[in-house]
Amino acid sequence: MTDAYIKLAEFEQNGYVVLDSYDQSQDPTEWLDIEYVDWKSSGETRFAPLASAYGDLECDGFWNHTPPKTDKDGVWVEANVAKGPRLVARAQEPGANVGRCRVIELQPNTYADCIYNLHRDDNNRLNPEGTGWIVRGFFNLTDDPDSAMVLRADKDDPATESRIPLPAGAQLIVDTQRLYHAVFHPGAQPRYNLITSWTSGPELKAYIDKYHGVSQVESLPLDKSVIDAATADVARRRAERAAALAARGQDPRFGDGTLGAGGMEVLSEA
Ligand SMILES: [Fe+2]
Repeated sequence: MTDAYIKLAEFEQNGYVVLDSYDQSQDPTEWLDIEYVDWKSSGETRFAPLASAYGDLECDGFWNHTPPKTDKDGVWVEANVAKGPRLVARAQEPGANVGRCRVIELQPNTYADCIYNLHRDDNNRLNPEGTGWIVRGFFNLTDDPDSAMVLRADKDDPATESRIPLPAGAQLIVDTQRLYHAVFHPGAQPRYNLITSWTSGPELKAYIDKYHGVSQVESLPLDKSVIDAATADVARRRAERAAALAARGQDPRFGDGTLGAGGMEVLSEA
């Protein structure tokens, strides 16, 4: 099915691309000025929409509106655009179609929390075949060198894991419908990151080339004992959750509303 879409070769190997680091220090801290809304996602989060389905200050999936639409042709949210012009300019720089565009605020978590939150996105719901596959850009705004975007091809297999470090100015683009992902953020302060949905095509390819995109980087070091402990902790948490839902007569795959009809999580960001 996915072959029916226009995809970029740069993502073929590992499902992600890391660009040159951006000089974040040259920009004002606009992410502290824009307006956030509470939105349930992976971990303790809030979101500040810069582009939403129809320009309102909300973060629901574009497909969950009337009329529904795929994650393309986002409408800029005027109040936040006025307070975040640099953020908007960065989202627009590739010249690729922009769908959702938002800043995420993520409170500190543990590696085990992150693994528990691993999920895939549903970026391409309603996306017409023959058009560009939707991927997501992640620009780290705060300086979180000990944090990482954790990516796995197989949710339950640590051997498939990449941990992309997130210092200020880190720029990555991820096929978040292909890869399980979540952020490990052990810092003391919230982490802020600009997330943009872009349509794959020649514009995005040129942008990746311009900033020397690479399809593999060195993972943030992490002790094997931490990984093993998280594996055990997450297995325990999942079993407890499944038991609690079963006791209420609910299918654990659909119990908390975060899973869509296909069993794919639809609300989460990283
Ligand atoms: Fe996500």
